[in-house]
Amino acid sequence: MTKWTGRRTAGPEHHVQVDPRVAPGGDGLVPLLSIPDGQLSADAAYQLVHDEAMLDGNSRLNLATFVGTWMEPQALKIYTETVDKNMIDKDEYPQTAAIEERCVRIVADLWNSPEAETTAGTSTIGSSEACMLAGMAFKRRWQAARRAEGKSTEAPNMIMSAGVQVVWEKFCNYWEVEPRYVPVADGNLLLSAESMLPYVDENTIGVVAILGSTFTGDYEPVAEIAAALDQLAAGGGPDVPLHVDAASGGFVAPFLQPDLVWDFRLPRVHSISTSGHKYGLVYPGVGWVVWRTADLLPEDLVFHVSYLGGDMPTFGLNFSRPGAQVLLQYYTFVRYGREGFRKVQQAAQDSAVFLSSAIGAMPQFELLSDGTDLPVFAWELAPSVTNWDLHDLSRALRERGWLVPAYPLPPDCEDRTIMRVVVRAGFSPDLARLLLTAVEQSVAWLDSLESPLPRPDDHPPTYHH
Ligand SMILES: Cc1ncc(COP(=O)(O)O)c(C=O)c1O
Repeated sequence: MTKWTGRRTAGPEHHVQVDPRVAPGGDGLVPLLSIPDGQLSADAAYQLVHDEAMLDGNSRLNLATFVGTWMEPQALKIYTETVDKNMIDKDEYPQTAAIEERCVRIVADLWNSPEAETTAGTSTIGSSEACMLAGMAFKRRWQAARRAEGKSTEAPNMIMSAGVQVVWEKFCNYWEVEPRYVPVADGNLLLSAESMLPYVDENTIGVVAILGSTFTGDYEPVAEIAAALDQLAAGGGPDVPLHVDAASGGFVAPFLQPDLVWDFRLPRVHSISTSGHKYGLVYPGVGWVVWRTADLLPEDLVFHVSYLGGDMPTFGLNFSRPGAQVLLQYYTFVRYGREGFRKVQQAAQDSAVFLSSAIGAMPQFELLSDGTDLPVFAWELAPSVTNWDLHDLSRALRERGWLVPAYPLPPDCEDRTIMRVVVRAGFSPDLARLLLTAVEQSVAWLDSLESPLPRPDDHPPTYHH
């Protein structure tokens, strides 16, 4: 949300000037902060919006984002053909609805649901909505169980690492659940079975494990966390469900680490969420959440819409949202298959590991992760470097067109700054080599400085998780 603090004025600085070659005849001045009285031609409006968006830079060089920035032309063709479809209009677009349903089955099968053909699941606008839905199911099930026992439902809590993505903070705030953040210890940024257990009590609606960490790309030990919760319940303690926030790992681990047991093979894992628009290889606007079995999603959270004269259950925060991204997701499933997904993710991992080993070998840096879980790696500055920091390096790389964020670690480690690279589909070995050259040149320039760069009291706004 933007809070506008300036005054509105009619001066030319509060207008944009349309290029006179595309707006002949008119003065081409368009107000910035109110709807213009008159019209622009479609060409002039296109030029105006296109030119401003151009300043965003090149999304392929954006190594901060986990979100898809490249799809092949055939996918783009489907996108433009189906951009008008509203996902909620199940009755009007029954085939898009059928494909969404098929995708839920495919994802449930990919994550080894024992009831993949019938279990509950839905597409969402992204992982954030998917996480919220999973959290709501936890809360509602916990409330029902407590009420059945005549116990209070006043003080639900949820357990997660202090390094969770901001969506979990939002979930707890919006749905009035106490977040219990397990501090990240020096050297270990991940939730573990031992660190999580002391936070569990009878008011715990669930535990969240992350596959993988937004900070470093490393996977949390889901199977160990599940086993600890199994043991707790078997010993007469609270029976606490586990959600896996597999925003990125949901479409990586099944292909690159098929032997890693993190999904519905563990009965303790009640639900899993992912972003189709991250390693699901789709442009922004699609996520998935699936429950292990249908009974784990409380029926009273489900709404019903009309579908081919019949009834279609839906569970979501949004009503209208794009249907095209769901079709694009299906495109990736049939286009790549398991073999193609493995190759695409392996290529990203090869580039990540190539870069992390080269950057880790530089005396100025110390690696925090190497890209062998997610194709994501992070590093910090060696203590011997005192004339510059990672924010300076981030700025120097930006001058060369690369967007590589520097940001603080989560609370308790926030005095440590790290830099992270997310390698995604479309980041070729050639681009990896060019990025490495840019890092080496930027470091050589920073090292050549005779005194520290001037420091503003505060660095510009840091990257926000
Ligand atoms: C672990 C994790 N969970 C949730 C999210 C939110 O995902 P989305 O942007 O799809 O809403 C992210 C985004 O980076 C993430 O890394």
